[in-house]
Amino acid sequence: MDAKPGAAGKPRLSDKASRFTESVIREMTRLAIEHKAVNLSQGFPDFPAPAEIKLAAQQAIAADINQYAITWGAKSLRQAIAAKFQATQGVAADPEREITVCCGSTEAMMSSMMAIINPGDEVVVFEPFYENYGPDAILSGATPRFVKLRPPDWEFDPQELAAAFGPATKAIILNTPNNPTGKVFTRGELETIRDLCVRWNAYAITDEIYEHMVYDGSVHISMATMEGMRERTITINALSKTYSVTGWRVGWAIASPEVTSAIRKVHDFMTVGAAAPLQEAGAHALHFPPGYYTALAREYHDRRERLLGILESAGFRCFKPRGAYYIMTDISGFGFPDDVTFAKYLVKEIGVAAVPGSSFYNDPADGKNHLRFTFCKTEKTFQAAADRLAKLTSVSTSKE
Ligand SMILES: Cc1ncc(COP(=O)(O)O)c(C=O)c1O
Repeated sequence: MDAKPGAAGKPRLSDKASRFTESVIREMTRLAIEHKAVNLSQGFPDFPAPAEIKLAAQQAIAADINQYAITWGAKSLRQAIAAKFQATQGVAADPEREITVCCGSTEAMMSSMMAIINPGDEVVVFEPFYENYGPDAILSGATPRFVKLRPPDWEFDPQELAAAFGPATKAIILNTPNNPTGKVFTRGELETIRDLCVRWNAYAITDEIYEHMVYDGSVHISMATMEGMRERTITINALSKTYSVTGWRVGWAIASPEVTSAIRKVHDFMTVGAAAPLQEAGAHALHFPPGYYTALAREYHDRRERLLGILESAGFRCFKPRGAYYIMTDISGFGFPDDVTFAKYLVKEIGVAAVPGSSFYNDPADGKNHLRFTFCKTEKTFQAAADRLAKLTSVSTSKE
């Protein structure tokens, strides 16, 4: 869609804004509300956040931590982020010079991209990808180079990856554990990526927001731990998923002092800072004992099993995720022309919302056989989804 000229002949809207559409994921949530559907589209829990984190936020507000925090983040939170990164990944980060707290990992990603991208720079993106990375590239001025992850195991072809790198490559965006595929990148895969980053002097921007949701013995490895990558990695993370507080909008970027100083400037003028009392609560949560994270992974494992069972009985072919909290499915067996038609049918006629696969691909045709469901939900929601999807089985069977 072109930005249309106004009366004086100049476009009324920016070319950048006209190059992407509204978020399909968030649109599916709106449709779910409109049609009173069970919402298995957007990745936010429908169960309570831990009592301790809520209490810490209440206490911070009561203690009048209600004014601007330091623009790059409350000291207590930056110290807690550094301590946790050291404890979980063995990587030391200086809270004074290497950590920027942002409004969610969404802003951390955008501020990081704007801090490093110049016109003509290319960014390598694995696809299917979390849909924000497309607009992130457009808004920061980067040209994305897409590299396919292929089902069933969502592996990439090392030669295809190598061909996507070149002198113009500024960075690769890596999301592990991955949304939407559930892939957890292995050490060998990270080494392949590392070698290309070193060879072409590129950054790795890693979105590790699902770091604690890993199953079947999979292990999350931070790119910053790989030899030669500490200085060239921007590690992005947030409170959102780990502590079930997606609405709080607190995330962060860990990077070298040089990159951090650029991220901090962009961040300061874009948002000034994340909510001060919620940063204090975050600092408290990041000190939760290891048992919190093992319980989290166990509970999500059980939710994964429950949703896999429901989807498989309803006739979906599922790609079992090893991490994060989504299930990518193959819908070709249902005989619908494409994913969007099927997703709209599901939300309006069956009463279950999911995300069309095309929203995770540059070329919508590549995702037309996929639908993504999330399992960050309660048993009540699963049961409601199971009851409704049972109707789908009969519809699809009667079509055969
Ligand atoms: C891979 C990935 N990164 C980032 C986000 C957004 O994170 P935040 O709430 O911290 O902005 C999501 C949310 O679904 C996600 O799946």
